[in-house]
Amino acid sequence: MFAHLLCMFCTIHAVIIPPLLLIQSFFTMKLALAAVCIAALAASSVAIDNGLARTPQMGFNTWNKFHCTINETLIRNTADSLLKTGLAAVGYKYINLDDCWQVSRTAQNVIVADPTAFPSGIAALANYIHSKGLLFGLYSDAGTNTCEGRPGSLGYETIDAQTYASWGVDYLKYDNCNAPSDQTPEVRYPVMRDALNATGRPIFFSMCEWGVDNPASWAGKVGNSWRTTGDISDSWTSMIGIVDQNEPLWQAAGPGGWNDPDMLEVGNGGMTTTEYRTHFTLWSLMKAPLIIGCDITNMSNDTLAILTNTELIEWNQDSLGVQGHRFTSVGNSQVWAGPLSNNRYALVLLNVDNSATANITTTWADIGLKTGAKYMARDVWQHKNVGLYAGTFSAEVPPHGVVAVTLSPY
Ligand SMILES: *[C@@H]1O[C@H](CO)[C@@H](O)[C@H](O)[C@H]1NC(C)=O
Ligand SMILES: *[C@@H]1O[C@H](CO)[C@@H](O)[C@H](O)[C@H]1NC(C)=O
Ligand SMILES: *[C@@H]1O[C@H](CO)[C@@H](O)[C@H](O)[C@H]1NC(C)=O
Ligand SMILES: *[C@@H]1O[C@H](CO)[C@@H](O)[C@H](O)[C@H]1NC(C)=O
Ligand SMILES: *[C@@H]1O[C@H](CO)[C@@H](O)[C@H](O)[C@H]1NC(C)=O
Repeated sequence: MFAHLLCMFCTIHAVIIPPLLLIQSFFTMKLALAAVCIAALAASSVAIDNGLARTPQMGFNTWNKFHCTINETLIRNTADSLLKTGLAAVGYKYINLDDCWQVSRTAQNVIVADPTAFPSGIAALANYIHSKGLLFGLYSDAGTNTCEGRPGSLGYETIDAQTYASWGVDYLKYDNCNAPSDQTPEVRYPVMRDALNATGRPIFFSMCEWGVDNPASWAGKVGNSWRTTGDISDSWTSMIGIVDQNEPLWQAAGPGGWNDPDMLEVGNGGMTTTEYRTHFTLWSLMKAPLIIGCDITNMSNDTLAILTNTELIEWNQDSLGVQGHRFTSVGNSQVWAGPLSNNRYALVLLNVDNSATANITTTWADIGLKTGAKYMARDVWQHKNVGLYAGTFSAEVPPHGVVAVTLSPY
């Protein structure tokens, strides 16, 4: 059992998973897995290995909607709403503060929360969130100051990690502003990883170095997720641009560590419902963290319906943990797919045209399926089976929209 768990950790970097699936004999597979494990352990003896992020993290973060205007009332109401709306029941469990919760350090260098915004203190807030069965996240920065000029953790990693653990923190988002130019993220981020580890408390480590130092090549040893791009903003152009940057890195993602194309903008008002569906579909397919960024105390029904689409959440949380990616792109018509457990496939037809509907077709060969294999297709936005397909699948896709289906062997 222990060896098996170890294997799961060391197979983080999923490139090695697909070839293994082809091996028919279970015995041979175990031997192969053991060999791969030994090799991978040797290559990453300092893997983060905190047991977290077996599937991408789901929750809420204050930044996209509230920026610095945060306080403990907002956070408590958000926790209450997460439960009341059913978001918690479908898997959203982290409630994360972003920048601006902190103001200074004591004479002993202990970080101090804003006493006006958080008069009860961070430990009390974490208690409240835990009492609701949820998890609590904080934010800091691998530089001298955060992006909003609050105290950063560079040089204070140990004391900050100890403070977070003593408050009951479950998650740390770690930003990259105001850092010395001669120390790369690859040097600064492992210091906090080790400080978090030394507390003995499993704390999800969400790296936010914006993809500037090619994190897909090293961050699997350091974080449970790593940002691959600059900040998202609430527009189609920003969202779809980020998709193009995150897509080629798909092989770096897997159980234990995920590519992070930034938090969701669903519900913030800058995109149409069709565009938000596309946003949520691609984040689900790309095994991206599903961190809600809107005001969940006051959501429209459309917003709630998107965020609680359990068929897409199942794609995102699938145990195989393989990030879906783009297989074909012709003009403005794209075909994306990825494997799911039980020999199923997630298939997305994406039309990035600004005004014209597109009839998009994929063949099984295009997406790596056996020609002639039969699949039942279930439309995950209409929530119904749309037919039996053998060899090709076509659909009319609206501008900036998707048609997304789960293909199950039939
Ligand atoms: C700390 O790291 C060790 C070695 O990688 C690992 O076994 C352990 O689970 C980690 N502990 C925590 C709390 O992250
Ligand atoms: C808390 O923050 C929310 C969101 O910015 C704001 O609407 C509310 O007025 C604030 N409440 C207090 C007590 O500061
Ligand atoms: C709730 O959302 C509606 C519609 O977007 C908006 O008009 C209203 O001001 C919001 N209420 C609060 C308290 O934020
Ligand atoms: C949302 O749906 C509920 C139940 O279907 C309905 O009662 C409510 O008026 C709707 N709210 C909005 C803002 O459309
Ligand atoms: C879409 O294209 C496919 C393949 O060319 C064709 O079979 C199908 O009839 C077309 N659908 C529509 C609605 O035009």
